[in-house]
Amino acid sequence: MSNTWTPTSWRDKEISQVPEYPDLSVLESVEESLRSYPPLVFAGEARRLKRELGEVAEGKAFLLQGGDCAESFAEFHANNIRDTFKVILQMAVVLTFGASSPVVKVGRMAGQFAKPRSAPNEVINGVELPSYRGDIINGIDFTEASRVPDPNRMVRAYNQASATLNLLRAFAQGGFADLHKLHRWNLDFVNDSQQGEKYQAMVQRLDETLNFMAACGITSDNVPQLRETDFYTSHEALLLWYEEALTRQDSINGKWYDCSAHMLWIGDRTRQPESAHVEFMKGVDNPIGMKCGPTMDPDELIRLIDILNPENEAGRLTLIARMGHDKVEQYLPKLVRKVKEEGRNVVWSCDPMHGNTIKADSGYKTRPFDRILTEVRKFFEVHNAEGTHGGGVHFEMTGSDVTECLGGAQAITEDGLSERYHTHCDPRLNGKQALELAFLIAEELKEARGEQTSALAEAS
Ligand code: PEP
Ligand code: CO
Repeated sequence: MSNTWTPTSWRDKEISQVPEYPDLSVLESVEESLRSYPPLVFAGEARRLKRELGEVAEGKAFLLQGGDCAESFAEFHANNIRDTFKVILQMAVVLTFGASSPVVKVGRMAGQFAKPRSAPNEVINGVELPSYRGDIINGIDFTEASRVPDPNRMVRAYNQASATLNLLRAFAQGGFADLHKLHRWNLDFVNDSQQGEKYQAMVQRLDETLNFMAACGITSDNVPQLRETDFYTSHEALLLWYEEALTRQDSINGKWYDCSAHMLWIGDRTRQPESAHVEFMKGVDNPIGMKCGPTMDPDELIRLIDILNPENEAGRLTLIARMGHDKVEQYLPKLVRKVKEEGRNVVWSCDPMHGNTIKADSGYKTRPFDRILTEVRKFFEVHNAEGTHGGGVHFEMTGSDVTECLGGAQAITEDGLSERYHTHCDPRLNGKQALELAFLIAEELKEARGEQTSALAEAS
């Protein structure tokens, strides 16, 4: 880190995708309050996540990151938190089985409120208003008053993040995450699926494994790893006033940590090397992510890696590729190759959501399940071909039974989208679609492992 960095040095840089607050004195008083509030996470936890992501970078673990596109004040409810947490854990069990390696679980939760937008304004029926930028900034209602950015929303977001994190910690450590309970998921979604038999077979093998372990005396009563889990939080570090106010210096190592979440990422629209967002993120010692879309150039990527991870620390930087199902083969290999040639330690993760958003005839923004799966498959194909490790996946999903993405075994149709379309921003996979996707990815990973094993056997 350059020695000129401070938590405020981003303020001298060009910034995009943030609101213009009408009254700066309100902003300042909110910042002062937030600075006095307790951190949401501890530096030691962020360091632990970084170590675990270091294992992912080395191919010894797998990353699963998922949650809402945008958390909202309206959907803040214990049941929503519980259901999303549960589906992420169930997906992790399935992926552990497929990857035969530990799965690092990171929620887009407890702070994922601020949204970059493709246009600053939105026009509906000839009326033009500022775009909605997430509940931490302004309101979703299409009225002039609601769209005015209000700094006080940051305090409400902090309080919601704090309560969400409290519940997540209780779920993770208090017995809810018990492996014996988790694998009894609702398998309704497999009934009509051609893959149904494979899913049932995997569940049965899991059952047998747990029964065998219990017969050997290994149960959740005597082995905490079967009863408890580590669960981390993350969000896009977009609203830098909020992030700065929660950035604290660790008393143990003197480094700065953004204590609003364990992991933060830089979005695809704010990752210019000279941007305020890159400046802020280079100085916090958390594990960080950076989205890489089709416009990312290999040389620019190396320049960004130089800035963000100058010591080439494994686990510090996760590159989240979000190309689109029809672009991944064209744009990902050159990035992967360059990073490998230059010997940079990174985690490669696949976000198959943001390059696959389409508008249905009805006007709803949606994502076809098949395209999401295709992007993930192609992502792993690229890594297999380049001899690198496809380390993780990043989803917009919810445990709730929404109808926002098309397809899946549930076969959500364009007409069905309006039934339960609740998202405040992008369309999310529902619980069944997310779990189905985890099963399909687990199959992919298992096949890839099988191919590796047989290649090794042939070589020996
Ligand atoms: C997001 O993850 O919600 C997002 C806006 O992604 P991207 O920056 O990749 O467009
Ligand atoms: Co999104």
